Amino acid sequence: MALVNPIKFMKLAQERGVGIAAFNVHNMETIQAVLQGASEENAPVIIQTTPGTLKHAGIHNIAAMVKAEAKLYDIPVALHVDHCSSYETIIKCIQSGYTSVMIDSAELPYEENVKMVQKVVELAHFAGVAVEAEIGRIGGVEDDMFINEADAAFTIPSEAKDFSESTGIDSLAIAIGTAHGMYKGEPKLDFNRLSEIREVVQDIPLVLHGASGVPDESIKEALKRGIVKINIATELKLPMAEAIKEAFAKNPNESDPRNYMGAARLAVKEVVKEKIRLCNSSGLAKECK
Ligand code: 13P
Repeated sequence: MALVNPIKFMKLAQERGVGIAAFNVHNMETIQAVLQGASEENAPVIIQTTPGTLKHAGIHNIAAMVKAEAKLYDIPVALHVDHCSSYETIIKCIQSGYTSVMIDSAELPYEENVKMVQKVVELAHFAGVAVEAEIGRIGGVEDDMFINEADAAFTIPSEAKDFSESTGIDSLAIAIGTAHGMYKGEPKLDFNRLSEIREVVQDIPLVLHGASGVPDESIKEALKRGIVKINIATELKLPMAEAIKEAFAKNPNESDPRNYMGAARLAVKEVVKEKIRLCNSSGLAKECK
């Protein structure tokens, strides 16, 4: 299918109380693994790239590959730019066929942040593209973005309400104790805060960043309390690296990328399927028609 704006299937997932898995990809093999896995689960899926990946691979290459690969499958697929602080990059993504964008201007003072998000919403909605933004600050490391524990800040429910209403965004990323990258101990999610946010922000889907390494039971509880989009990056990178290391351990003279990247693709696909099943969205694609 052609790429779609994800809001319709995210709202459907919200109504059903299930999740939509959003996977960060880096190359052709991870794109194929996500789409093959999602198709085998018959689930709508979001493919996302950080600005760092766009710098590495080129927006044109990522957009062309995702569009071409998505056409092979009968499931709704959205292409999203994750944590993008540049208005110019957002324009380029939309021009290249991205169907969803995350504007991350959380470093700005609140009023300026709101203005920047409003500007992106105006542009994106004109182009039929969805907008995600974050209130609060999710800690951890992603690409060259590093938010240490002291700067991470949990989302305040009243601010979440004001922010989503005054910006007109389509989905809201909240900080409730997750962080990007793997955790040292077990992450403790503030479920009461999540419920309070859901209570005051009822109409748009909520997004959980930093889902890698969060125990399955916590993901299920988060879905029950109103999270819809679950962002997974690190948990795809690790099996990919492990599969490549294993291929070289078995055959140190390996030189055919099709062998080690093929093994990596299979390993990533298995995790994609597991995460979709955890989100309980297997089979949801048939309801999106
Ligand atoms: P993880 O790397 O922890 O899975 O975080 C992914 C994410 O939130 C992407 O924005």
